[in-house]
Amino acid sequence: ISLKHYNTFGIDAKASFFCEISTIDDLREALQSNVHPNLFIISGGSNMLITKDIDALVLYINIKGKEILEEDDDHVYLKVMAGEIWHDLVLWCLERDFGGLENLSLIPGHTGTAPIQNIGAYGVELKDTMVRCEAIHIDDLSTKVFTKQDCAFGYRDSYFKNEGKGKYIITSVVFKLTKRNHKPNMSYGAIGTLLEQWNIGDPTIQDVSKAIVAIRKSKLPDPKELGNSGSFFKNPVLSKSEFDSFIADHSTAKYYKVSDDAYKVPAGWLIEQCGFKGKRSGDAGVHKNQALVLVNYGNATGAEIIGLAQKIMDTVYNTYGIRIHPEVNIIK
Ligand code: EPU
Repeated sequence: ISLKHYNTFGIDAKASFFCEISTIDDLREALQSNVHPNLFIISGGSNMLITKDIDALVLYINIKGKEILEEDDDHVYLKVMAGEIWHDLVLWCLERDFGGLENLSLIPGHTGTAPIQNIGAYGVELKDTMVRCEAIHIDDLSTKVFTKQDCAFGYRDSYFKNEGKGKYIITSVVFKLTKRNHKPNMSYGAIGTLLEQWNIGDPTIQDVSKAIVAIRKSKLPDPKELGNSGSFFKNPVLSKSEFDSFIADHSTAKYYKVSDDAYKVPAGWLIEQCGFKGKRSGDAGVHKNQALVLVNYGNATGAEIIGLAQKIMDTVYNTYGIRIHPEVNIIK
């Protein structure tokens, strides 16, 4: 079967075997089957670039369900199964006035993969509300609970991208959300600017979400209309000395201070300065409104997208001496 509709880049790769997983029992059964020696897990398919056919049993994780585990006057502990669509979850929470996920509005993908790269946007990351997640070990089928600490979260990073890579399938995630005294996070300037334009003085979490949806829609292509995986690259983090020499030569650069010895420079800015914004090569391109996003205009292959990505990485390095690295998982 073709995986074109199972990855947001819309890459038309074939899977040797494909199985949709709707329950944890399905998952155990599939893991015990001897259909194929290789296994490939796909969920929202929103953070991967497939570059070849997948010679494996592909498991499409689509386990649905939400459950309130505990609540008091102030907080709710919500368990969400891996296959729930992330943005639908955010909207469901906002309808009930549960706060904490609003800044992560409109991020593509399923809930179960959110911890893998610690999804983040507009000053908030998954780790800010996640309490724990549950996973099944691929080899021995045991269930393991990972606390937030176990997950070793970093910027677009976690245990599941490092030591835990390929070992577990996340089946559910538990969040601690606010029921009152919400703390709308407006640290990202553009949110406040937009809310002011809308004459909203004391924004609710629903207002913040609406602003973020509007900002994202203005910059980021909808994968249903134009294949993409969101930011293709991570923003590079420079040490103080690297940053000092960079900014001395490029005083107009945008940057963000993470700590005394860590400065994030937006890769989108570097890529735009190198002239790639809106450029197209065959069906692979750089989005016109956000240079950090690579797009598939229709029939690009994974290899073509990688080719463009490599050219961008090389040009940024040759121009600025800064190495940028892909954020999406490249399936080689
Ligand atoms: N910029 C440019 N040109 C561009 C793009 C960006 O000059 O083409 C400049 C902007 O003007 C701005 C700065 O770079 O000053 C930052 O841009 P933006 O706010 O759009 O955010 P980003 O750093 O490009 C990151 C995340 C996004 C997240 C936004 C908002 C990463 C890799 N990306 O992008 O996450 O939505 O911040 O918080 O950290 C994703 O991971 O898929 C994703 C979309």
